[in-house]
Amino acid sequence: MAETDGAPSIWYDSDIQHVIITEDQIREKTEELARKIAADYAHVDSILLVCILKGAVMFMADFSRALGREGQAVELEFIAISSYGQRATSSGVVRILKDLDRDIAGRHVIVVEDIVDSGLTLSWLMKYLESRTAASVEVVALLRKPDAIKVQVPVKYVGFDIPNEFVVGYGLDFAERYREMPYVGVLKPAVYARV
Ligand code: PRP
Repeated sequence: MAETDGAPSIWYDSDIQHVIITEDQIREKTEELARKIAADYAHVDSILLVCILKGAVMFMADFSRALGREGQAVELEFIAISSYGQRATSSGVVRILKDLDRDIAGRHVIVVEDIVDSGLTLSWLMKYLESRTAASVEVVALLRKPDAIKVQVPVKYVGFDIPNEFVVGYGLDFAERYREMPYVGVLKPAVYARV
């Protein structure tokens, strides 16, 4: 069974091989990132946070509230995108499932990501947002896998660099499950065999 900050065992714990980032570590890192970003954007009236659905939804919720506690006003936007065909292609072509609801011209945008894996999603999104003439576009990513990167994307704010393993939890899924886990862990190989 996985260690989960002393919390009682829940169904997903037995599917986890080991914990990578605990709930406490996520909270502390989120607060640290919010402090840094609030200081860097002290001159900005309101930051436009753009959450990439679905994986980043937990981080968006916690990070936006942490920024609020730092006194930084934010507005929340959501975008959903999906890769065309194989994820592993170098083209990184994606299609938009849900676009932004408003014009971002002249806005200071921070893209909120749960994880940068190959970098293909972000690489495409950065070009898309810049083409819509935002005043600035930066990225905050809770997790990054340096060994999986295929396209270099400038990610200004990173929570944790993690090994190239299949991780789930805190928004990250396997077959749409495990997103509700409050921590990030590596899935047991036996779980893949069941599918
Ligand atoms: C995941 C994750 C990132 C992206 C990172 O999303 O949430 O958005 O992959 O991978 P990349 O760096 O290789 O592009 P996914 O497409 O699995 O959709 P989801 O967020 O709805 O789970």
